[in-house]
Amino acid sequence: MSEMSPRLRAELEGIPTYKPGRPAAVGGPDAYKLSSNENPYPPLPGVLESVTAAASSFNRYPDMACTGLVNELSERFGVPLSHLSTGTGSVGVAQQLIQATSGPGDEVVYAWRSFEAYPIITRISGATPVEVPLTPGDVHDLDAMAEAITDRTRLVFVCNPNNPTGTVVRRTELERFLDRVPGDVLVVLDEAYREFIRDLEVPDGVELYRQRPNVCVLRTFSKAYGLAGLRVGFAIAHEPVAAALRKTAVPFGVSQLAQEAAIASLRAEDELLGRVGSLVCERTRVVEGLRAQGWTVPETHANFVWLRLGERTADFSAACEEHGVVVRPFLGEGVRVTIGESEANDVFLKVSEVFRKAL
Ligand SMILES: Cc1ncc(COP(=O)(O)O)c(C=O)c1O
Repeated sequence: MSEMSPRLRAELEGIPTYKPGRPAAVGGPDAYKLSSNENPYPPLPGVLESVTAAASSFNRYPDMACTGLVNELSERFGVPLSHLSTGTGSVGVAQQLIQATSGPGDEVVYAWRSFEAYPIITRISGATPVEVPLTPGDVHDLDAMAEAITDRTRLVFVCNPNNPTGTVVRRTELERFLDRVPGDVLVVLDEAYREFIRDLEVPDGVELYRQRPNVCVLRTFSKAYGLAGLRVGFAIAHEPVAAALRKTAVPFGVSQLAQEAAIASLRAEDELLGRVGSLVCERTRVVEGLRAQGWTVPETHANFVWLRLGERTADFSAACEEHGVVVRPFLGEGVRVTIGESEANDVFLKVSEVFRKAL
């Protein structure tokens, strides 16, 4: 056998592998997974039925153009069909956006810490990540981000609300930032958690996209709509960005099951958004509980909270796990904890209380 191995692209060296949130302990009676910002509610019966019906024909390829879903989205958001592009989760669409805009020598600007896929998908394309630290309050530093844009910048992510801090940027500051971005740089407003926002000063990215050809909005069915396991997200973007997304899509990436589930979810939106409302109430309860215990918690607008624990991150995460809740540690920085079912949130609050008292 030859000693040689296939030559791989040098850019792949050193790219961290995406770390999924750890699953809850198998078989643990009270193990809760609060590590991946998933929706704790099981599928709605109607959504499950539409997926089950679609399962009878999975010997066939799905509709590559996602015609039914794109039609629904076009109506729901009041945007032309040609401005919509679907993909395998919004992370799939984010990767396509980078492939469509950025290669070796190009720069992709984003806040840090933010969604951990950004550096990975940037470097896979051979582009250079430019990470702009969050402010001390864990919010995007939009002035510093505007200053980080050079003539090599091709794409800027604004994660609103930001994962993992839950913080937001509001209308005035975001519009001021967009005014400073050159028209040939694509700004991607990643709104994976949009439905959890209750602050009216946080703009809907779709409204910003309407007036600005270089703005693209990313949305997902994984969080508020509870379809994380089916992998479907979408972008709303002007031509030629939307056309470039159709070119970079993996053919048949979005399964028919995912398409039918997404359509059924849009039709059951009232019920699903009712569940989001309950999670928002739980979020308030968790944040107030943590603050009453003495924690400093940034105001969160998503389905998770962020505790900046620094060197105590690993210990805190281990304490949670010992009591049956799995959280998402970012070692040396902090812990992100998803708002889950009330019982899970209760266990988490109990652990955080005990940990706080022992500090
Ligand atoms: C900010 C942000 N964007 C995008 C995604 C990707 O979600 P999905 O690919 O499931 O749509 C996530 C998932 O955690 C996220 O936090």
